[in-house]
Amino acid sequence: MPDLSINFAGIKSPNPFWLASAPPTNSGYQVMKAFDAGWGGAVWKTLGVPVVNVSSRYGGVNYRDKRMMGFNNIELISDRPLSDNLREIEEVKKRFPHHAVIASLMVQSRQEWHDIVRDVQNAGSDGIELNFGCPHGMCERGMGSAVGQEPEVLQTIVEWVMEVAKIPVIVKLTPNISDITEPAMAARRGGADAISLINTIQSIVGVDLDLFAPYPIVDGKGSNGGYCGPAVKPIALNMVKNCAQHPDVQLPISGIGGIESWRDAVEHILLGASSVQVCTAAMHYGFGIIREMTSGLEQYMTEKGFHTIYDMVGKALPNVKHWEDLNLKYKVTAEINEEKCIGCQLCYTACEDGAHQAIRLNEGTRVPEIIQENCVGCNLCSLVCPVEQCITMERRDDGTEHLTWKERTEAGTIPTEFDDERAGGRHHWVPAPAAALGKEKHKTLPGKARQYAAADAAALESSAVERPK
Ligand SMILES: Cc1cc2nc3c(=O)[nH]c(=O)nc-3n(C[C@H](O)[C@H](O)[C@H](O)COP(=O)(O)O)c2cc1C
Ligand code: SF4
Ligand code: SF4
Repeated sequence: MPDLSINFAGIKSPNPFWLASAPPTNSGYQVMKAFDAGWGGAVWKTLGVPVVNVSSRYGGVNYRDKRMMGFNNIELISDRPLSDNLREIEEVKKRFPHHAVIASLMVQSRQEWHDIVRDVQNAGSDGIELNFGCPHGMCERGMGSAVGQEPEVLQTIVEWVMEVAKIPVIVKLTPNISDITEPAMAARRGGADAISLINTIQSIVGVDLDLFAPYPIVDGKGSNGGYCGPAVKPIALNMVKNCAQHPDVQLPISGIGGIESWRDAVEHILLGASSVQVCTAAMHYGFGIIREMTSGLEQYMTEKGFHTIYDMVGKALPNVKHWEDLNLKYKVTAEINEEKCIGCQLCYTACEDGAHQAIRLNEGTRVPEIIQENCVGCNLCSLVCPVEQCITMERRDDGTEHLTWKERTEAGTIPTEFDDERAGGRHHWVPAPAAALGKEKHKTLPGKARQYAAADAAALESSAVERPK
């Protein structure tokens, strides 16, 4: 049985799954219920200065049959009295001494930071998370993302906190910035023990076509909110990877953003996170999702032979390269499994209008055919095909050659003009514009493509210009 427990920058937790600071961690009642269900830790709903919330507060992006594919909020930090929260943190820690309770904080002055850090330490918190991410309401008051977007200010506040902190300090970063590694490095310079990311992305999720106002609507008006949920996972993964790969960040990372299943969590971990936090999925489906998350993670680790979470932290990082380091000699093309094909022709339309005119329809069969010489291996057809594993991308090169753009640049073999024999698109057959109106375009296409490719290959053979090896 793999060991799911973690020690995140000194914060111990029975598993890597924490609830993110948000409505599910608004009270001791909820946090205890969550621990009882199996969550390993909870980052308490952000505590700080007094606030007043609006109603309504949330907006959703539905995509086809999927509700809340994206989620948006204009909620502020906790509006419950600080003293109630502190009392409840103390109670939770008494009942769940081995679970992680992290107090999320957001105040303004140095004195306020000192006071609140001491308060949550005295209440028994295992760690502190500094909320430098909230992109609405609090930033107008000089807090939240207003701090996260200014590395120097962020560093100063981290230094204030470290003056009194006796427990690990995590800095929660905002994605509303062009390079997230800048505030990550500032957090390290300030002395933080770890970082967490991402907080929500500034957004407008939709506009009411009758009221001419953005959602969520508050008395006929709206405001930008913070976006999260499954839709933001790709952005979060990229930012986690950027911080994990940066040589000057080198801090434990708590990955947040779009985590709904054990698979999402594993993706964050493989890109460098050593704990993960969940908000929208818990708001959507409740605390019970943790059962599938822990059992799925356990099964995956067993299958892969990972004994601890740390065996897989950052395991995918060596394979995340710059584009210029990818092998230009690697070649795949699409192949259709005739047994599986249902003849919907979605692949044909996608390739014809949105890619490289490399699929044709043949009379007498509903199964389209890939025109191999015109297929550039872009994947589009396999992505639109509704049948799993019906279109697969098959390797066509023999695996013996490896040449990157960087190597070509260094060797002086990059094309300098579009007509250059060494240029990639030179030998790709594109129908003449007028063929768009012709009736026979697809019946004739393969033959023409073949003729053209043969002519081109012959021209290339006799060309004086040396091809890159
Ligand atoms: C309604 C709502 C309230 C939130 N409140 C806070 C907060 O008080 N402090 C904080 O650091 N993050 C807050 N967040 C952000 C989440 O902690 C988390 O960073 C974000 O939702 C991304 O995770 P997800 O995709 O799992 O939802 C809030 C998010 C939502 C949806
Ligand atoms: S991989 Fe791209 S180019 Fe090839 S058939 Fe599919 S859509 Fe067309
Ligand atoms: S999209 Fe898939 S199922 Fe539909 S025609 Fe193409 S190969 Fe067949």
